[in-house]
Amino acid sequence: MTTCSAPGKVYLFGEHAVVYGEPAVPCAVERRARVTAEPRDDDRVRVSADDLSLNGFTVTWGGGVDDRPDVDAPPALVEAAMRYVDEAVAQTRDALDDPEQGFEITVESDIPLGAGLGSSAAVVVAAIKAATAAVGVDLSAEAVAERAFRAEYAAQDGQASRADTFCSAVGGAVHVEGDDTRRVDAPRLPFVVGYDGGAGDTGELVAGVRDLREQHGFAADTVGAIGDLTRSGEALLDDAASDGLTDERLAALGELLDVDHGLLSALGVSARSLDEMVWAAREAGATGAKLTGAGGGGCVVALDRTDATETALELTPACERAFRAELATEGVRIESG
Ligand code: PMV
Repeated sequence: MTTCSAPGKVYLFGEHAVVYGEPAVPCAVERRARVTAEPRDDDRVRVSADDLSLNGFTVTWGGGVDDRPDVDAPPALVEAAMRYVDEAVAQTRDALDDPEQGFEITVESDIPLGAGLGSSAAVVVAAIKAATAAVGVDLSAEAVAERAFRAEYAAQDGQASRADTFCSAVGGAVHVEGDDTRRVDAPRLPFVVGYDGGAGDTGELVAGVRDLREQHGFAADTVGAIGDLTRSGEALLDDAASDGLTDERLAALGELLDVDHGLLSALGVSARSLDEMVWAAREAGATGAKLTGAGGGGCVVALDRTDATETALELTPACERAFRAELATEGVRIESG
């Protein structure tokens, strides 16, 4: 029996613009999915999943991967969870070159579902690592990232970027630009996350930006401006990694977060709840705050070394939950077994 964990992520800079070839910098955060895998003697797969979101979605199902669970949870959510597990098992069997290997799999996660924090990627990454390790195969973080990307790509009908899976597998801050994915140096950033309890529809939001960009030159310029801002942010991160995260550098990074949020708002992907949380964070003394991920609902990320932002977010009506999430320097890892 092997247990592995993998982190979720926030976008420090560059979501949406990354779809058009601009760079983005997702960062792994210390909110993890944990998957325990135990090989079975037959070809069956039984999966138990508890606490898959902060609002109490719980599902347990058993049988083959084609069986559907009988649970009191939104069918679309269960269907989506099943597809990720199906594809993670398929990638594991392919890596093992054994299409008949069965598994007992237990999933636990403290990453809100569908809220821009990379919950599905973390589950897929941890599942592939745990299931392969459980039968004695040691996949590198990069090999897990590649297989997890393929699993997400299949589960999301070809609508997946490498950002979430790569970031979760290797940890730290990551540069994503087209197919170029690599770790970049970054200091330990004091992230605070605010979660509105909801989720945006990534496909719809990406399509909305595409339409706007085709209709208006300003939208294409806005996408380009996010790219420029991301490059400035990466240079700052690099300085902070080598010479320290001074208050000035934290302030400068925060300023870029604020501008990025403004540009994303101009592209129409913010929401009242996200704006309320962003302003609550800024007023509490965060050096900057922005939405993270596709937008429309879900999470914001702020930078603050003190507890003030977390406290202020907890008191904000639009915010269901707030938590501190330090940069996770380690990606997927074996916890036991
Ligand atoms: O909400 P998330 O974490 O799936 O992020 C979506 C990021 C986008 O740039 C909007 C889309 C993409 O595929 O990169």
